[in-house]
Amino acid sequence: MPTPLTIAVAGLGSRISCVIGNLVKASAGRVRIVGWADPEPLGKANLEKAGIATGQGFATVEPMLAALKPDVLMVGSPNHLHVDFIEAGLGAGCRIFTEKPVAIDRAQTVRVAKLAARHGADRILVGLVLRSAPLFRAVMAQLASGRLGQLTSLETNEHLGYEHGGFLMRDWRRYRRYAGSYLLEKCCHDFDLYQGFTGTRAVKVASFGGRDIFTPANAAIEQRRDADGKAPYHAWPTRWNTTEKVCDSDADTVDHQVAVVEYAGGARMAFHSNTHCAFGQRRWLLAGTKATLEADLATSKVRIQDIHVQKQPEELPVPGLEHGHYGADDAMGVDLAASLLDGKPFPANLRSALEAGITCMAIDEAQRSGQVVDLAPWWAELDAAWPRAVAAGAR
Ligand SMILES: NC(=O)c1ccc[n+]([C@@H]2O[C@H](COP(=O)([O-])OP(=O)(O)OC[C@H]3O[C@@H](n4cnc5c(N)ncnc54)[C@H](O)[C@@H]3O)[C@@H](O)[C@H]2O)c1
Repeated sequence: MPTPLTIAVAGLGSRISCVIGNLVKASAGRVRIVGWADPEPLGKANLEKAGIATGQGFATVEPMLAALKPDVLMVGSPNHLHVDFIEAGLGAGCRIFTEKPVAIDRAQTVRVAKLAARHGADRILVGLVLRSAPLFRAVMAQLASGRLGQLTSLETNEHLGYEHGGFLMRDWRRYRRYAGSYLLEKCCHDFDLYQGFTGTRAVKVASFGGRDIFTPANAAIEQRRDADGKAPYHAWPTRWNTTEKVCDSDADTVDHQVAVVEYAGGARMAFHSNTHCAFGQRRWLLAGTKATLEADLATSKVRIQDIHVQKQPEELPVPGLEHGHYGADDAMGVDLAASLLDGKPFPANLRSALEAGITCMAIDEAQRSGQVVDLAPWWAELDAAWPRAVAAGAR
């Protein structure tokens, strides 16, 4: 048996404990968690419950790296800390797995771009888990086959159930200084996938949004109870830096947002997200010149109809959707093990992650300013730090 790959964790929260659980499951004893740095390790109990040893605890990241010299650093902290931990890990010679979003603003994005240019993009893997989703892969296969023809326009959304919306008002995600923004924190996944569909990045964006649901004027909704008598907005457990307030929260993030986007290849997209829906939806309507495709991660359904040829939409089989993140959590565990242990390519791409993040930031800028935002200067800044041709070679 070869020596196991050693892993240390910066921010042992809920999400990274789930990622580690799936990685361990897929690695057949070839990885070992040697330590973690976290003032309040919320995910530690999850790993212990699963029988996964967590190693030595530290209050901060740098002493942990110096003492343990791990092969890999996994970053699972709130978003504003990701870049500092990535930089520390690369400096200590580690490969990195970081949760999304990689960066929360333009300056942090440029820092990561420079790190990628210096150390190599393949040293930084990003937890854009939906890249491993079977449904995304099924849709990409249809696009790659040419069945849709030219993709002219898209209609997309991500709608959250109201319990999730209540959680967002209470969690650290309610502050832009930790999360970046609602769109960046929650929907950077989706904007990464849209780049996959269109094969390009955004050139112009416009957006409207605000916080009009979770407001003192709507405080009466907090008295409502679900059919089973539970308080819906407190159903999800609170975590680091939380409040119990919901409609009177001090959040500075929006609770709903719409955007329109024009992509470099010419495709145009309308996007809609609301955090207080009766049912969730994460739907894509792709209008091509030869066929129309509709897919929804929430229902695990894909249907496609060839224009002129088929009289009814055809439903496509999509395997393995019953587990976390529509089957993507298990699949990413396998992808992560294959990349870290066997040098296989990882489906989520750092460059696309940074470009999706910038697109979300530009949409937020459009929402705040009420203006159409031209992304040309944003891309010029990124390309100067990390030329696109160099990044493409690293994919
Ligand atoms: N890929 C996904 O689908 C997905 C899903 C959920 C969360 N996430 C991402 O995972 C990350 C963590 O989210 P979460 O839901 O697990 O949050 P969480 O609140 O459960 O965990 C955050 C952890 O970071 C720790 N922390 C805070 N300050 C720290 C510091 N200075 N040093 C080290 N650790 C520190 C906290 O104590 C906590 O244990 C975020 O970036 C989030 O966007 C990704």
